[in-house]
Amino acid sequence: PDDATRAAAPAGCPAAEAAPELFTWEFASDPYPAYAWLREHAPVHRTALPSGVEAWLVTRYTEARQALADARLSKNPVHHSEAAHGKGKVGIPGERSANLMTHLLNIDPPDHTRLRRLVSKAFTPRRVAAFAPRVQELTDRLIDDMIAKQGGAECGAADLIHEFAFPLPIYAICDLLGVPREDQDDFRDWAGMMIRHGGGPRGGVARSVKKMRGYLAELIHRKRESLGETAEADEDLISGLIRASDHGEHLTENEAAAMAFILLFAGFETTVNLIGNGIYALLRHPAQRELLQKSIAAGDTELLTTGIEELLRYDGPVELATWRFATKELTLGGQTIAEGDPVLVVLAAADRDPARFAEPDVLDLTRRDNQHLGYGHGIHYCLGAPLARLEGQTALATLLTRLPDIRLAAEPDDLRWRGGLIMRGLRSLPVEFTPER
Ligand code: HEM
Repeated sequence: PDDATRAAAPAGCPAAEAAPELFTWEFASDPYPAYAWLREHAPVHRTALPSGVEAWLVTRYTEARQALADARLSKNPVHHSEAAHGKGKVGIPGERSANLMTHLLNIDPPDHTRLRRLVSKAFTPRRVAAFAPRVQELTDRLIDDMIAKQGGAECGAADLIHEFAFPLPIYAICDLLGVPREDQDDFRDWAGMMIRHGGGPRGGVARSVKKMRGYLAELIHRKRESLGETAEADEDLISGLIRASDHGEHLTENEAAAMAFILLFAGFETTVNLIGNGIYALLRHPAQRELLQKSIAAGDTELLTTGIEELLRYDGPVELATWRFATKELTLGGQTIAEGDPVLVVLAAADRDPARFAEPDVLDLTRRDNQHLGYGHGIHYCLGAPLARLEGQTALATLLTRLPDIRLAAEPDDLRWRGGLIMRGLRSLPVEFTPER
């Protein structure tokens, strides 16, 4: 974000001078002090985003939770007022032209209810649980590759984002959906384009979205033709989506393509960042990391379970929840939000709210009172949370077991964070380790 935006402080507010700059590089590397200021001085705050779009940022836990569940705040961009448009459009680059608008994150009840019910029949916790051995295999393969690359050196080095956090979720979701292995590297390339340019030039991203869309449409068509040739229990998720029915209703091919796309889109960069931000936080908190390593070595999964939730709360992948638009005038945190105004709920700020969490800036893997908003809240609550938990837990536990002395190989100040609006994640994470023999 080159075009830094100064947060407009409320008129007459004595703290106006202290209003933090948002969306600068400094902000991207540590947005938490700015969020603390907003929570205290301007918890529902109207500002211009780098794209020029004007939006409200909601930073306190109570109002954030309220906004996420408020039916007057629509997910459908048709409710975005012209006045708030500014220079930019909202949403995923390329989704309009690729005919991908009708997906869960863009729609409201009753359409949302119908589509979510259908997808939930295919994307079940049982399907995710059955996928655990495959996630373990993928994780081990990536670590094997990292070790093999060292060529017998005493001290190994790797970029953990590029070589581990990035490929794991893309191969996992491709496998789950039923994308043939020989085509998965295409997805890796398209996804790489999206993640590299998220928040940057939109042309490349839009092209990748289109290619992905074209591929998925064709794959769905092929799978529909061959449905019935495999036993239902062995089916992949795309076949499950095609087969899923509710009171005799099915997804159309177009709806199934948009659904497969949003599963990829929503489930990919988020999980990259869960792994990346999570490992980074552990490397910077040696006592917490040691505690976790000991408990994993003892075969205890409890700390891993609470730990992943805490890593999500402490520095989660989704900094701001996806767009919402007021369908009528409403009041939130004492501010009047006009019909058509966009509202962005800042999950990262709400999850550090001292009014909700004891010592919110402390990473405490044992934290139990931890109803964080990292997966959202209400009817759009993350559909992929069981898969994200599985991948996060497997990735962290395996990495800390197989590379037990893994350490940061860069100064924190030299690390670069991607400057995208919705997601928070590192561009690269250089580490060193002793390769296992
Ligand atoms: C929705 C976070 C992984 C699929 C959401 C929302 C959040 C979120 C905050 C709500 C957005 C809103 O209300 O505006 C995360 C995080 C993840 C993760 C932090 C990883 C750590 C996944 C995975 C998948 C997935 C792995 C699927 C493979 C979805 C879908 C929705 C969603 C489909 C839309 C649900 C709806 O609108 O009904 N996620 N997600 N997510 N997520 Fe995730």
